[in-house]
Amino acid sequence: MPYKSKNPIPVTQPFLPPLEEVNEYLAKIWESKWLTNYGPFHKEFEKALAEFLGVPYVALVSNGTLGLVVALQVLKITGEVITTPFSFVATTHSLWWNNIRPVFVDIEPTFCNLDPDKVESAITPNTTAIMPVHVYGHPCQMDRLQEIADIYGLHLIYDAAHAFGVRLKGQSIVNFGDLSVLSFHATKAFNTFEGGAIICHDARTRKRISYLKNFGFAGETTVVAPGINAKMNEFPAAMGLIQLKHYGEIRGRRQAIADRYRELLKDIPGISFLTPAPEVDYNNAYFPIFVDAAKYGHTRDELYAHLKTHNYFGRRYFYPLISSFNMYKSLPSATVKNLPVANRVAEEVICLPIFPDLRLQDVNNVVEIISGFIL
Ligand SMILES: Cc1ncc(COP(=O)(O)O)c(C=O)c1O
Repeated sequence: MPYKSKNPIPVTQPFLPPLEEVNEYLAKIWESKWLTNYGPFHKEFEKALAEFLGVPYVALVSNGTLGLVVALQVLKITGEVITTPFSFVATTHSLWWNNIRPVFVDIEPTFCNLDPDKVESAITPNTTAIMPVHVYGHPCQMDRLQEIADIYGLHLIYDAAHAFGVRLKGQSIVNFGDLSVLSFHATKAFNTFEGGAIICHDARTRKRISYLKNFGFAGETTVVAPGINAKMNEFPAAMGLIQLKHYGEIRGRRQAIADRYRELLKDIPGISFLTPAPEVDYNNAYFPIFVDAAKYGHTRDELYAHLKTHNYFGRRYFYPLISSFNMYKSLPSATVKNLPVANRVAEEVICLPIFPDLRLQDVNNVVEIISGFIL
């Protein structure tokens, strides 16, 4: 019998390392009094992260949103950018902050990522880039997107906020496109409280990112661009170094939870979930399920509320769609007719709790609540 959890169980909870480990790093910061502006932990974390991800150049930033804003500045993106409406608002907001017009293109139903089949017809003479999202950490169809970008001379910037540690055929997926942007926000599979990184392919681009994230300074008295303040300070950099040491354990725990969900949810009528592609080493950052109300007997919102009455707080990521928010809904590409798959998925999805400290007993209970609710 399913039961009501004694404590509220959120959709996610950050992994926090033992406090003693953090104190050791804090002591060093106190000793050096170097708090920000490319301090020793910043340098060390940048290097360690590049090694961990297997990428040549990493530029740390203060959060993923500023990472996206800076990435668009680095490539001098203007005009129109093709993007997905099925994401967190920061994806589209980063375009708006650069005075770029977002053009929404529908998603494909298998992994809920930008549908390459629908990209070409949205390209106009004003299109300068494509900004897809590896939503939930499942890789986009990167070969096809790159092919389109090459044919039309477009830049390709991935919002890889969910994709920390995801590999495709052994290679980190942040190695694709012109630039990829990670988020290390508290809700992410790898967190530094707040933080992020831009991954690029050459030293010149990285240098330009380092100017742009530091007000445009290229030396003590030289300013080469109207930059912003997007630097990562020493505290998140230290947190990143500590979290890297624990990442194997974090990933393993997420995997065990996802395996349990998959095993128990597979035969519930009207409930489906995403299965990682065979050549993908997935990070299990999220565990979205999709409710087909006709087959399940309840709508997604009914199930969402039912889980809440048992003290389990799933989240309807990504509902509402970005394209339905007031500031974007009048764009021609924001119509429901243009985005049928995204509109359907946004009505069906609930992300179930998944985080390293979640007990398997709670996973069993969540599934019993879901299966016991069938009419
Ligand atoms: C897809 C996506 N893009 C961008 C961001 C923004 O990242 P941050 O919170 O680090 O600014 C987030 C999450 O927060 C996200 O989920």
